Amino acid sequence: MFRLFNKNKTFDPLGTDMHCHLLPGVDDGSSNIGETINCLKTLYSVGFKKIYFTPHFQAHYPNNEDDIKHRFAELKKAIAKEDANNMPEVAEVAGEYRFDDKFARIPGTDNVLTLPGKRLLCEFSLHFNDFAPLPFFEEYIKMGYKLILAHPERYPYLNIHSEQIMKMKQMGIAFQVNILSLNGFYGKSAMKKGFEYIEHGMSEYLGTDTHNMRYGKALLQTAENKQVQKMLKNHRFQNSEI
Ligand SMILES: [Fe+2]
Repeated sequence: MFRLFNKNKTFDPLGTDMHCHLLPGVDDGSSNIGETINCLKTLYSVGFKKIYFTPHFQAHYPNNEDDIKHRFAELKKAIAKEDANNMPEVAEVAGEYRFDDKFARIPGTDNVLTLPGKRLLCEFSLHFNDFAPLPFFEEYIKMGYKLILAHPERYPYLNIHSEQIMKMKQMGIAFQVNILSLNGFYGKSAMKKGFEYIEHGMSEYLGTDTHNMRYGKALLQTAENKQVQKMLKNHRFQNSEI
């Protein structure tokens, strides 16, 4: 039996989780409000005080921004009945936009859902590197978006010293390592690369990318990980600015 109400507030220094899939029924994340509430309580129990929902926007989950905003407003009403002492603030809904050959979007044509400060969370395909995202990134940057690449450590075709990573850093793109990567949730390679990005000062943010209670349980385990606790003492992140 896992401990839902963990006393270990390891992630308290971060304060904000800016990446999770807890809007029920819109992607591969939470499937119902009960699961969302359990996940939110778990996030709170390990130290997160404010949460942004970031549903997928990609060919496989062709979400519509207006529909997502409506669903989020309904969810907020429903969870307002929960005990606020055990729950983080559910701040806003943004999106995790996939940049690939099937879904890259031209700025200005869509009602893009961003984190505060026009921060746009984006991701690549986890399997294929057959798309050149940089021209699209340039367009978004020209329009004042601040891009954050989700989980750079999870792309098997990109390592920390690759040309594409270096170019993105030169363009001012921020990175967000997944916390669960640091406990081996996605395998050894992602774990190694996750720590590398952090140790090189190349991960401005950390996110949980929580989808459901399988992730929630892994987060409780990660909160006990001594190497993760040490890393949080030695590095600063920008989560609390969101
Ligand atoms: Fe995600």
